Amino acid sequence: MSEAVDYATLEQRATARGPVFGEHAHIVCDNLVRIYKTEGIEVVALQGLDLLVDQGAFIALVGASGSGKSTLLNILSGLDVPTAGVARVGDADLLSMSAKERLRYRREVVGFVWQQTGRNLLGYLTAAENVALPMQFAGVQRADRQERVEELLELVGVGYCADRRPDELSGGEQQRVAVAVAVANEPEVLFADEPTGELDTATSAEVFAALRTVNGAMGVTVVVVTHDPLVANHVDRTVGIRDGRTSSEVLRRTELNELGHEEVVAEEYAVLDRAGRLQLPRDFTTALEMERRVRLALEPDHIGVWPDHARVRRPGASSGSDQESSSS
Ligand SMILES: Nc1ncnc2c1ncn2[C@@H]1O[C@H](COP(=O)(O)OP(=O)(O)OP(=O)(O)O)[C@@H](O)[C@H]1O
Ligand SMILES: [Mg+2]
Repeated sequence: MSEAVDYATLEQRATARGPVFGEHAHIVCDNLVRIYKTEGIEVVALQGLDLLVDQGAFIALVGASGSGKSTLLNILSGLDVPTAGVARVGDADLLSMSAKERLRYRREVVGFVWQQTGRNLLGYLTAAENVALPMQFAGVQRADRQERVEELLELVGVGYCADRRPDELSGGEQQRVAVAVAVANEPEVLFADEPTGELDTATSAEVFAALRTVNGAMGVTVVVVTHDPLVANHVDRTVGIRDGRTSSEVLRRTELNELGHEEVVAEEYAVLDRAGRLQLPRDFTTALEMERRVRLALEPDHIGVWPDHARVRRPGASSGSDQESSSS
């Protein structure tokens, strides 16, 4: 049975949004807005950001400087409060929680690793004492603490550093100890803002491996901001942020190739928000000289996007060397 033709205008169709999606995701951001006001000047750091992250996922956030990555992480970790929209982690509603709930959230639900190695660890305590400290605050018994500290340091590959102070550790070792500190109280989510920003490539890979390990072993959902394109290849999903919105995604999965070997397949997607907005990559639009407006057509299995140029023939016209573009 064929469906009746819908004659609604594009504008009418675009405004007909469905219900808030992603009810079951672990992290939900919907139309999230954060406006900073300093000396009468407003900076819109997040302008309607949508993001869903599944429980136990390991994702990277990438984007130009000033695109809003740290702002998003600060909101999700309960350090900053958004101006409008929806931000939820598990049962916690980050807009409406009380000061007391916020404190509990920061202590029990999230772990955080900062870029600056010096900000993650106390310099006068050993690695083991640093990892034990959050457990002590949470009331874990001394004997249990010692056992868990050893386990955690082993898990992230720095068991041999237990009795050293931060100034006796390399940058990479410090960050791996910081990962152990961040997950000491078994948080639901772990946020890391450029944890490898001060490290070289080989050392970064070790820190990323530590994040991957705690993700797999403890089931903690991990969100990492990174500038390192190689490091982004270690995660299942990379979300691109542009001008305070999610703009593109790369999803990775392992497949068996024809020789039976495992192969990582990466596919790039554009993000479609709830309002139906889509950012076309600049190199695509430039290649076809698309500016200001494009023509759309709904096909059975994709949407066609054509430049608004008289010289480019409409689809279906005899093609020759004419350009066409499609997105689906
Ligand atoms: N406390 C603040 N007060 C005023 N403006 C701010 C504040 N924090 C961030 N901003 C502004 O908000 C925007 C987003 O900043 P944010 O730090 O989130 O970017 P970022 O993606 O983390 O950048 P980077 O890659 O350089 O760390 C920028 O324009 C920034 O100047
Ligand atoms: Mg930042």
